[in-house]
Amino acid sequence: MSAVKKYSKKDFEGLRKAGKVAAHILDYITPFVQVGITTAELDKLCHEEILRNNAIPACLGYNGYPNATCISLNHVICHGIPSQRKLVNGDILNIDVTVIVNGWYGDTSRMYVVGKPSNKAKELIEVTYNALMIAIDLVRPGIRLGDIGHAIQSYVEGKKFSVVRDYCGHGTGKIFHDEPAVLHFGKSGTGLELEPGYVFTIEPMINVGTYRTRLLSDGWTVISADRSLSAQFEHTMGVTEDGCEIFTNSLIGLTKPPYDVQVK
Ligand code: MF3
Ligand code: CO
Ligand code: CO
Repeated sequence: MSAVKKYSKKDFEGLRKAGKVAAHILDYITPFVQVGITTAELDKLCHEEILRNNAIPACLGYNGYPNATCISLNHVICHGIPSQRKLVNGDILNIDVTVIVNGWYGDTSRMYVVGKPSNKAKELIEVTYNALMIAIDLVRPGIRLGDIGHAIQSYVEGKKFSVVRDYCGHGTGKIFHDEPAVLHFGKSGTGLELEPGYVFTIEPMINVGTYRTRLLSDGWTVISADRSLSAQFEHTMGVTEDGCEIFTNSLIGLTKPPYDVQVK
């Protein structure tokens, strides 16, 4: 017996709208990611744009989380709290936005770079992006969650990076974090078999060094235990009859950095 919800074509329309708004926020913020801006300022800009789009910032107040977005810099893996820290040349950061539109969730994140990051940082971002897309390309009815985890893990470890084990993707829909847990590591041919109508995120967190994590005393910020660089990309998608529909694609073709956008 499976407790995983199946969403209808009509439901997909709602998810598509929410996903579009979430993706738009990441598009919108792109030209602001520059040397000297603080992550709190980036959060405020995202928050305002979410409200202008008649959406609700899902993270704000979620289990007491203090902001509209998570902004995870350099060795921060996820759930970074926006702060007065100013961006400096060479920083890499993940901005993770989740919005609610008419009750439907759209959850997505991308990496951004400031100035000229190291070659290692660029490689990490490239591998993390590829890991997400390799996984999404597999998604269709009949594959199992373990196939997704295995594809990500074998690709990433082949590139000598590591896959974070302590956080995972998740079912979503009208609940932020629902079943199933979507692990980014595992064994082919194991786990839940996908069916049309399932809706979930894939959001691999990839580290240069150890996959081990440490939670900071603020109760949110997750860093790599060895403080090595970490990267993440996330999409929300729904399983169709013959593949999947990504709900959170950029509306203006921004996939991975460097993003070719007009500087404001
Ligand atoms: N958006 C994150 C995810 O991908 C969850 C953030 S929860 C928060 O699932 F409370 F930290 F905002
Ligand atoms: Co998510
Ligand atoms: Co997210």
